[in-house]
Amino acid sequence: MHWITPDLYAAFEAEGTNAHRLFTGPHVWVERLGADVLISYKTEAARAAAIDGLHAWEEQTGFRSRRVFARFLPRQNPERVAPVLLSGDASLAFHGEITERGVRFGIDFGAGYSAGFFLDQRANRAFVQARAPKRLLNTFAYTCSFSVVAALAGAQTVSVDLSKKSLDRGRANFLLNGLSLEGHRFFADDVMDVFPRLERRGERFNAIILDPPTFSRGNRGRLWRVEEHLEELLAAALSVADAGASILISTNCTRLDRRALERAGRFALKTARRGGDFHQEPPLPDFPPGEGAQTLWLDVR
Ligand SMILES: C[S@@+](CC[C@H](N)C(=O)[O-])C[C@H]1O[C@@H](n2cnc3c(N)ncnc32)[C@H](O)[C@@H]1O
Repeated sequence: MHWITPDLYAAFEAEGTNAHRLFTGPHVWVERLGADVLISYKTEAARAAAIDGLHAWEEQTGFRSRRVFARFLPRQNPERVAPVLLSGDASLAFHGEITERGVRFGIDFGAGYSAGFFLDQRANRAFVQARAPKRLLNTFAYTCSFSVVAALAGAQTVSVDLSKKSLDRGRANFLLNGLSLEGHRFFADDVMDVFPRLERRGERFNAIILDPPTFSRGNRGRLWRVEEHLEELLAAALSVADAGASILISTNCTRLDRRALERAGRFALKTARRGGDFHQEPPLPDFPPGEGAQTLWLDVR
């Protein structure tokens, strides 16, 4: 529970990353998103303390936030609202961009609860880029950050998300990085309907991203609950996984820990009569243990 050190801030700057956590507390966290700062809070007192802390941290590091946004963290998803501007120039556009290891991504504080980029997948994005898969399947793709880093490493990509708007932002992220859209497909569809089609067509992938929400409604009102459907999702992923494929299993559901993800992975492997190993990427230096998504890689043999 502390602000990141000036050394860590300098290390992020040096590697071309300007999107990272600044502070994590009991009822609040603070993120830097390019020139702006976003405070996510559960109580007014925690928000006020974070603002004081931010001023002190800025004195230490020389960073000066252009604007400070804040968003309330409700208990229930339907109560989620977009961030509000607390300080800074109100005439500036709500959209902008951030960089992660030099890769550019669009953000938009006016787009709703999430600005368009999840910081806690940084190490997994770096893994994908270093692994340089030939073919990546990015399910629950949102703004396609995994597809962009894979494409930069030479992959052909398939991105699937129910939200056409999010996929449009994904395409914009490709263009921001000078990537052509040739060799990249974007399906605005339910992941569980897309898997059987890919399998039937004989499409196979070397890397597959599974980062589903805890709860959602898909095509024809179909209910998605990660606790109930994770094994089914893993089985579907294995049906299109090439030998040697890496599958990311990721969740924000607090009832599923790393061991539960591994159990689901082992069950799916056994059912599909495939072998595999599990690994995790190193923890992020700006996230305290237990913060952010639970993630695990299944390396299929
Ligand atoms: C947690 S976000 C994924 C974040 C993304 N992996 C990233 O790192 O930026 C979940 C996404 O899943 C999408 N989604 C939810 N249910 C879906 C379904 N059944 N089929 C396809 N997409 C779905 C939502 O529209 C949302 O964009």
